[in-house]
Amino acid sequence: MNIAFQQVAVIGAGAMGRGIAQIAAQAGSQVFLYDTQAEASQKALIAVHQVWDSLLAKGRLDSETVGRYKTQLHTASQLQDLKNCDLIVEAIVERLDIKKSLFLELENLVSESTVLVTNTSSLSVTAIAAALKRPAQFAGYHFFNPVPLMKVVEVIAGLKTNSDVCVRLTAFAKQMGHTPVQANDTPGFIVNHAGRGYGTEALRIVSEGVADFATIDRILKDQVGFKLGPFELFDLTALDVSHPVMESIYNQYYQEPRYRPSVITAQRLAGGVVGKKVGEGFYKYQDGKAIVAPDQAVPEVKEFPPVWVSPRASRRLELLQLLKDLGATIETGASPSPHALTLVAPLGFDVTTVAVVERLDPARTIGIDMLFDDAGTKRRVLATNPATRSDMRDAAHALFAKDGKAVSVVRDSGGFITQRVVANIVNIASDMCQQGVCSPQDLDVAVTLGLGYPVGPLALGDKLGPTNVLEVLFNLQTVYGDPRYRPSPWLRRRGAIGLSLLHTED
Ligand code: NAI
Repeated sequence: MNIAFQQVAVIGAGAMGRGIAQIAAQAGSQVFLYDTQAEASQKALIAVHQVWDSLLAKGRLDSETVGRYKTQLHTASQLQDLKNCDLIVEAIVERLDIKKSLFLELENLVSESTVLVTNTSSLSVTAIAAALKRPAQFAGYHFFNPVPLMKVVEVIAGLKTNSDVCVRLTAFAKQMGHTPVQANDTPGFIVNHAGRGYGTEALRIVSEGVADFATIDRILKDQVGFKLGPFELFDLTALDVSHPVMESIYNQYYQEPRYRPSVITAQRLAGGVVGKKVGEGFYKYQDGKAIVAPDQAVPEVKEFPPVWVSPRASRRLELLQLLKDLGATIETGASPSPHALTLVAPLGFDVTTVAVVERLDPARTIGIDMLFDDAGTKRRVLATNPATRSDMRDAAHALFAKDGKAVSVVRDSGGFITQRVVANIVNIASDMCQQGVCSPQDLDVAVTLGLGYPVGPLALGDKLGPTNVLEVLFNLQTVYGDPRYRPSPWLRRRGAIGLSLLHTED
């Protein structure tokens, strides 16, 4: 195979550097690991050898291959030793001044054709390259931790990067067994930018007292299929990492309201309650396991009231069929009888507003989130309004739990929890396409592989129907008057043709 880069240097032998060195050696390059701490590169070499040995022991690699890999990975004791490399990847401390001075030194050492690359996660590739004589030879490779298992890499073009350099880096990424995606040099690149919709909206929901952390995690996992709830994710990443990232992207975009961080994480960070690694975050941990309060118990209800469904409910026919399957007595009159449990299923609006607009008795009115197809979710979510009677709440809870599906009852807010979070994720992704951060295809690939979402944000928007997502956003904007919910022009334009399809305008 014709390898894109024969001699590769990796500078910084920490968590990222050793992973990059491993996959570069596996691609067939001669790899040189350098670290200012000599013992760090030696430790990294031993760690990578151990990975290969364990893959050999598991039968995933043969001994000849492991032997070859080992001969391709070397340590270097000084920067001088890297002068013949045709690619140098930097994975040192995340400081602009230190990265800049390293590359200035390297540029004087290596040949004109050498490609220099930073693995920065939050700095501007263009800013690092600004002082270089050959910024065209400089680009970003944003890998994810752990590198060998997270099979996606963002190839980032700075303002002056030569497109041939990105083509070569893309080819090399594939040779390393990774899926490359192309990103323009913008704050957060693709994955860390697209990830803004999840945690920030969940925090906002908590700040309004709609539900507690654990309930929000349960709902988003069971309704959308996220592997981790936003608060489980915060605990895993730790707030000393994720809160500064939230602030940095918000400020780099000049206080764009869509990315606004929360005082909740600022305070918890100040208090040291940063996550699993310190034994307490949004959850408390015992022996490394989160202590999770039990799910809401299903109330015992002996007699169920008849049910009336608003003619404006979303997925109304599906909802009526579901009620039939659950054995409910369904009223068919133009308005509910005086005893009826009154169901509404708004998109974006709160239950109270719907009850008022539709002139329904708020004491008997309950909302159900029907954004997703009920058959495709593991949990139903009901919302009360401040006037809802407890017997009506309990009847609705017990009725929708009759077939054994989990049910959460939350407080009223504009949009339901899932609607708000999903609409934000789709909207931010759409706006990234609007800004030309990347192509719609690369966006979905990067987010699926980099964040482990069940589907890419744009494919998710298509699954739910872009017009439904738009309706949620328009109505959230009406309820909150907050510009963070304004729909991206790209989402409006693509609403009719779909979000994830390749289109001539991309
Ligand atoms: P780390 O702290 O595990 O390793 C950094 C290594 O660089 C250390 O061994 C240190 O001795 C060495 N080093 C520091 N300054 C140096 C210099 N001037 N010359 C040579 N070696 C030097 O850090 P980690 O987590 O591996 O991160 C490295 C880079 O990768 C950072 O820019 C970080 O933002 C980025 N990154 C990190 C991710 C992560 O999840 N840890 C994900 C994506 C990117």
